[in-house]
Amino acid sequence: LSLIKGKIHKLIMCNSIIFLSIQDCPICFEELCSNSGYEENKASSVVYKLDKCGHVFHKSCLAAMYNSGPKDGSLQCPTCKAIYGVKHGNQPAGSMDYHVIPYSLPGYRESETIRIIYNIPPGTQGPEHPHPGKRYSARGFPRHCYLPNNDEGRKALRLLIIAWDRRLLFTIGTSATTSEPNTVTWNEIHHKTEFGSNLTGHGYPDPQYLDNLLMELGTQGVTEADL
Ligand code: APR
Ligand code: ZN
Repeated sequence: LSLIKGKIHKLIMCNSIIFLSIQDCPICFEELCSNSGYEENKASSVVYKLDKCGHVFHKSCLAAMYNSGPKDGSLQCPTCKAIYGVKHGNQPAGSMDYHVIPYSLPGYRESETIRIIYNIPPGTQGPEHPHPGKRYSARGFPRHCYLPNNDEGRKALRLLIIAWDRRLLFTIGTSATTSEPNTVTWNEIHHKTEFGSNLTGHGYPDPQYLDNLLMELGTQGVTEADL
């Protein structure tokens, strides 16, 4: 919860407020002015109000909900699904570089091309990974990806840099392509890894691609508002 502090307001020790006495906490279904169903100490009747949607919960119920989830720095209101905080992933350590190459992509003949190079070496899984302490492999690195060097492509690049910094572009799991477990895989944000052709479906031309990419970034909480 400390990660999203500032987005939730500690209301009051609630027995001093009358209106709360008739509301139940939507998480534990106990009254907001009594103790949280999740914790029986004297602090557990503290209630928090989420600042965008205004829904109110026991502090310890929100904390229990956060701790039972991915603990990714974000929290979703269980009542109305509003999102608070900034979602982070568990992408393993590595590097992201990019430069412009003087060639154009199919479908973008008027622009040069941005080439992104991701490099992630194998390593040992941390506590945020599925099998802490176990090794993970990293296949096909460096992975080269392509965007048109136009306004849309440059915007996509800036958003991808943010997603990289939030550790959202790769994760560790079982590769859908190779079925290998404990390996570095793409994480729900599609990249174009083919340059001049489209034999894999991960190439150009694809007029929908940049819009889809912005949507996939948005699903991970990376939007133009972050630029
Ligand atoms: N290029 C881009 N994206 C791909 C590719 C590819 N060649 N292959 C699969 N994906 C997408 C899939 O569509 C899926 O949404 O990545 C997502 C995760 O698929 P996995 O197979 O689990 O991913 P991963 O093992 O990381 O990638 C497989 O991608 O870049 C290549 O060299 C890499 O051959 C490897 C392949
Ligand atoms: Zn809400």
